[in-house]
Amino acid sequence: MNAYVGTPTSRVDGRAKVTGAAKYAGEFAADRLLHGFVVAATIPRGRIARLDTSEALRVEGVVDVLTHAHRPPLADKDEAWKDEVAPEKGSPFRPLYDDRINFNGQPIALVVAEDWETAKFAATRVRVEYDQEAFATDLESERGKAARVDQPHKPRGDAAAALTRAAVQHEADYVMPSEHHNPMELYATTAVWDGNGKLTVYDKTQGVQNVQKFLCSVFGRKRDDIRVVSPYVGGAFGSGLRPQYQVVLATLAAVALKRSVRVVLTRRQMYGLGYRPMTIEHVALGASPDGTLDAVTHEAIAVTSRFEDFSRNDTGWADQLYKSPNSRFSHKLVELDVSTPCDMRAPGAATGVCALECAMDELAVALKLDPIELRLKCYSERDQSEDLPYTSKQLRQCYARGAEAFGWDRRTPAPRSMHDGKDLVGWGMATGVWEALQMPVAVRIVLTANGHAEVSCAASDIGTGTYTIVAQVAADALGLPIENISVRLADSTLPQAPVEGGSWMAASSAHAVLGAAEDIRQELARLAKALPGSQLADLDATKVTLVDGMIASNDPNGAAVSIADVMRHSKLERIEKEKLNQFAEDKSHARNTHSAVFAEVKVDEQLGVIRVTRVVSAVAAGRILNTKTGRSQIMGGVVWGIGMALHEETMMDHRFGRIMNADIAEYHVPVNADIHDIDVIFVDEPDDRINRLGVKGLGEIGIVGVPAAIANAVYHATGKRVRRFPITLDKLLD
Ligand code: MOS
Repeated sequence: MNAYVGTPTSRVDGRAKVTGAAKYAGEFAADRLLHGFVVAATIPRGRIARLDTSEALRVEGVVDVLTHAHRPPLADKDEAWKDEVAPEKGSPFRPLYDDRINFNGQPIALVVAEDWETAKFAATRVRVEYDQEAFATDLESERGKAARVDQPHKPRGDAAAALTRAAVQHEADYVMPSEHHNPMELYATTAVWDGNGKLTVYDKTQGVQNVQKFLCSVFGRKRDDIRVVSPYVGGAFGSGLRPQYQVVLATLAAVALKRSVRVVLTRRQMYGLGYRPMTIEHVALGASPDGTLDAVTHEAIAVTSRFEDFSRNDTGWADQLYKSPNSRFSHKLVELDVSTPCDMRAPGAATGVCALECAMDELAVALKLDPIELRLKCYSERDQSEDLPYTSKQLRQCYARGAEAFGWDRRTPAPRSMHDGKDLVGWGMATGVWEALQMPVAVRIVLTANGHAEVSCAASDIGTGTYTIVAQVAADALGLPIENISVRLADSTLPQAPVEGGSWMAASSAHAVLGAAEDIRQELARLAKALPGSQLADLDATKVTLVDGMIASNDPNGAAVSIADVMRHSKLERIEKEKLNQFAEDKSHARNTHSAVFAEVKVDEQLGVIRVTRVVSAVAAGRILNTKTGRSQIMGGVVWGIGMALHEETMMDHRFGRIMNADIAEYHVPVNADIHDIDVIFVDEPDDRINRLGVKGLGEIGIVGVPAAIANAVYHATGKRVRRFPITLDKLLD
């Protein structure tokens, strides 16, 4: 029965969010709560020579100033802490660990006071002197120091030779800037001192159990000592995948002072940690005149910190999309005196596929082929890197449905050939691709005799709609109205879940709900059969459905009894089942989501102003659990893609190794006036191999391909190919 799955169900947490009833990490109250304010380093590299906190300590209301020289013990920085999302190599940053400065904006002290304003003021009274050291923050000037990191893609054939002999070639560098997540909610932690060394930590995070394990490791505690709770997240986009430093600082202060402490970063301080790393993407394509690809090479050079290697899969996506007998991919890192990058929505793909899809557009121009025709010519039915078929791949349908909705057949191919009054009009398209991942998740369901069920799991809902899809799947599986389902998430005491990321939580949590509901159903069937004089006495317990509050035989003429009656007669107030769902390992197929993105831009040539007037995104991502929240996911991704194409760029002043635009006035993101028509199409993609429900996940596919579609549209409008993102108006006026 699918009363809810697949429908546009409104968010079950919508009312709580719009009325303010939903509480975020920095909003939880505690007795005698203290407030911490971070003092951040103003040099990118060196040592703290002198740190004088005496004046700050004299400010009335200041309780303490924590520094590396004055803090409770922290576990050794190099101790093996297996962060679920930690980079493979390096030593995760610990705030206030020692006197080393590794990046500008690094926290060097935490002023703790009775109120936030006092802490903020006193922070200006902390005096610091540094021994500065030579530093480097510029990826482009340090490009020569790039060192290769291992990536999974094996070379196929001889790409270099194939490129040289190719009749038509295209080769270029695409430069993607560093970007910051800029979620509405600031990094925040309220560490509540429960006494006896125990803490309840309200943290802004995408994974409460990951933060719990991390804190236990750093502070040498047992799991029972620290509970981490994060019921709502005001946007994270990857920034909350790793435990961030404010959670360490709040916990450190609570441990030191045996009081509850809240630490909320300022918007400027948000730029002192995790970001999408700048990359220089070199793509070379070789083809025959008919558009058959013969060679693909993609090399990315990305920034990382000196203390951790952070690398994601920028290259290699061509192997998922386009047939080519020869290919070579490589990923290199340049260590700079900056904080470690972190995951940001579709890490790797958002940037790497942008470069690939711009390059494909340039190749189509060189071949005088329609860009869709080129992509269909090289369409790959198999993942070439492992030579595997897909569990499903309806990308052809994405091209067809997207093109039709957009009106692509009315496009005139020549650049500068389309107009709207004085504006140049450009139409561009690109392909998107992401992974369809799934992880072990456990869910507990408590069904009570009044026909209500509580579903609980440690998973987060980072705004993606997890509360809602969990409620939908549970309502269908238990045969109850959705109003009778309550969902509890994001508390480390609840059943096991990984961080919410990688677009894996929809499939993972939905199947965990199915597993626990299945156990409830079996239990009910067993009880129903056992009742004296039961109409269901001969029932096969595996052949029942829970529907409309009844246990019903799947046989159309079969009997049905009410769940409430069965529980009452069995003298049961509640049935509780907890189940860990593990997906069977299946290396026989590749799993991906796909999209075709079409964009229209209008360019005022005299001013260089670019408006994205229309975007059509046709997505194939298996079954869509909720077409309303799903559509919102894709729209959000498209808005991000518009930001990547035209606005977003973290700018560094390399003379000081400091970010210049560390606030949302100077760091541009799209605003309402930048966003026009966005049309989301979900292409039918049945997939009975990937998992029982055929779900693939939608959190990240929405952004991939969008910046390239817009860049390609800008070229079509103006005849100018801008390969350095974002495409700001000065680049068109050059
Ligand atoms: Mo996403 S970048 O895995 O939160």
